[in-house]
Amino acid sequence: MGERVVLVTGSTSGIGEATALAFARGGDHVVFNSVHSVEAGHERASSTPGSLYVQGDISRSEDCERIIAKTLEHFGRLDVLVNNAATTKKIDHHDLESANLDVWREIFEVNVFGTWNLSVKAMDALRATKGVIINVSSVAGSHSGGSSIPYSASKAALNQMTALLAKAMGPEVRVNAVAPGLISTPWTQSWQRTHDFVSATAPLRRSGTPEDVAEVIVALATASYVTGQVLTVDGGLML
Ligand SMILES: NC(=O)c1ccc[n+]([C@@H]2O[C@H](COP(=O)([O-])OP(=O)(O)OC[C@H]3O[C@@H](n4cnc5c(N)ncnc54)[C@H](OP(=O)(O)O)[C@@H]3O)[C@@H](O)[C@H]2O)c1
Repeated sequence: MGERVVLVTGSTSGIGEATALAFARGGDHVVFNSVHSVEAGHERASSTPGSLYVQGDISRSEDCERIIAKTLEHFGRLDVLVNNAATTKKIDHHDLESANLDVWREIFEVNVFGTWNLSVKAMDALRATKGVIINVSSVAGSHSGGSSIPYSASKAALNQMTALLAKAMGPEVRVNAVAPGLISTPWTQSWQRTHDFVSATAPLRRSGTPEDVAEVIVALATASYVTGQVLTVDGGLML
């Protein structure tokens, strides 16, 4: 497509990084973002022509404001917001005590409240460009499983937020989501048994790569008659 301004939250590693690089390869301007990996963020931006890095934690309202303000200050517009940043805690679903309210709050602060807040703060700019939001959800949002019950519930909330925002923001802004299955990123690096299970059972016989998900996000950004949808990217694992 080319020449759009694309903000990808959590884009110093994994799915976010692959997504930002995929948009950049297509000629779009990209805004990288992360919380802690500041050096990696600057490095990605300096090796990607026409891009910018903005540090910021999406669970902090002032950071959301700053991320959007810096994007607009630098590029003067925003066309695509990819809400990829998220957090989790790995807790066995039977271990109810460990999934305490502090854990629920910590996960929802980023995955749900942070995503909502950044989307709202970006909305005027997106309306102006007839822009697009793409949320990175998970198959855990609609099937049993996932790294913990609070994490899966946060992705279920994100799916419903996707549908309702799409309804409220049309026709100006389209809102969609991708729901990845198991993807090889630093997040799942130590989950060898799960990777083995997926390679043995998924119809496509492998875990996904960040690029597999990025490809679908880039396609959704240009799919002009699709809104309110959650598109599964799991190699058929949930069939
Ligand atoms: N990997 C999978 O199998 C899988 C499956 C389904 C869904 N997903 C979803 O895919 C997305 C990306 O996952 P991933 O596996 O690619 O993760 P990852 O490799 O661990 O990368 C996470 C990125 O998010 C950033 N981040 C974390 N908290 C943030 C916050 N509060 N504000 C801004 N940035 C933040 C991290 O930056 P810092 O390093 O600076 O903290 C990092 O750049 C998440 O939404 C996750 O739920 C992943």
